[in-house]
Amino acid sequence: MVDLRTHYMGLVLDNPLIVASSGLTGSPEGAEKAAAAGAGAVVLKSLFEEQILAELGKESEGIDLDAYPEAEAFIYRTAWEEDSDAYLSLVRDSKQRVGRTPLIASINCVGSGNWASFASQIEQAGADALELNIAYMPNSPALSSKDIEDRVLSTVKEVRHSTKLPIEVKLGSYYSSLPHLAASISKLGANALVLFNRFYRLDIDIDAMKLVRAQPMSGGDEYYDSLRWMALLFQRAGIELCGATGIHDAQTMAKFILAGASAVQICSALYKGGWKTVGKILDDLRSLMETQGFSSVDSMRGRLSAKSTGRLEEYMRLQYIKALTGIS
Ligand SMILES: Cc1cc2nc3c(=O)[nH]c(=O)nc-3n(C[C@H](O)[C@H](O)[C@H](O)COP(=O)(O)O)c2cc1C
Repeated sequence: MVDLRTHYMGLVLDNPLIVASSGLTGSPEGAEKAAAAGAGAVVLKSLFEEQILAELGKESEGIDLDAYPEAEAFIYRTAWEEDSDAYLSLVRDSKQRVGRTPLIASINCVGSGNWASFASQIEQAGADALELNIAYMPNSPALSSKDIEDRVLSTVKEVRHSTKLPIEVKLGSYYSSLPHLAASISKLGANALVLFNRFYRLDIDIDAMKLVRAQPMSGGDEYYDSLRWMALLFQRAGIELCGATGIHDAQTMAKFILAGASAVQICSALYKGGWKTVGKILDDLRSLMETQGFSSVDSMRGRLSAKSTGRLEEYMRLQYIKALTGIS
């Protein structure tokens, strides 16, 4: 029998398939369905600081906030309290419904908000771990890559000090030196990195001459960047790894484990195929492991990572140099 259990952030998951944060996990019923489908863990929909800031904008329409700065603070506090109370109920109710499946709460951080105190409230509400969905969109030439990384690190530091929960940091792929950032996040005491988030995308409608939303779901061929970074970082940055984006089947999931992932997060495949997809992927993963002669996820993890193969240069290749890639 194949053993699908995996150790991730000090938790033992029955299998490495984690249902990612999305509308599917935005209610206790959704979290329960994910657990009942057989997921190894469930990440709740994020509480969005951006949403609170947007509410601040709506509530303050017609008020001159420059003249009444205390009004801004009041409206922000009220919006924050309402949204955070609702989120804590989501955590509490979901925890009751998922049984022994680990429940991961998720907060989206864009500035230095009230995260420190909120993280400890999330812990009290019963979450088993916390995901920090950190995404800063640099929009000024005055902002350096170090400025952005410092903001990421100060958020991690702030939250780490306020909770004992295991923390996974979910990042996008736009960083100049991911190994350095990963090692710095690890030194601050975060337990894992989720690579990568797939953000809201823009497109242009030429007929309507306006911006529109691009396809929100990933395709099954969008996993290459994440896979490369799993393989490059495994046991080289002092932090556990969780794969994300473009993982739609057992084949791709197996590739991530071979590259070094302790677990993977899946979202679009579940929107497309429904909850039965969880069982199908896990059944397929079991058969694939049997065929390849792996008795456990632990024995498979990292087998094709840069560290294990010792062929770092192959994982670093970026250019189509004919002598190296065979493609001219
Ligand atoms: C409709 C939708 C809502 C999402 N909401 C969140 C969210 O609240 N927090 C978050 O960290 N990621 C969110 N994501 C990103 C997913 O968790 C996931 O990282 C991304 O879709 C890539 O995985 P996939 O290729 O399996 O879809 C959302 C994705 C979709 C499609």
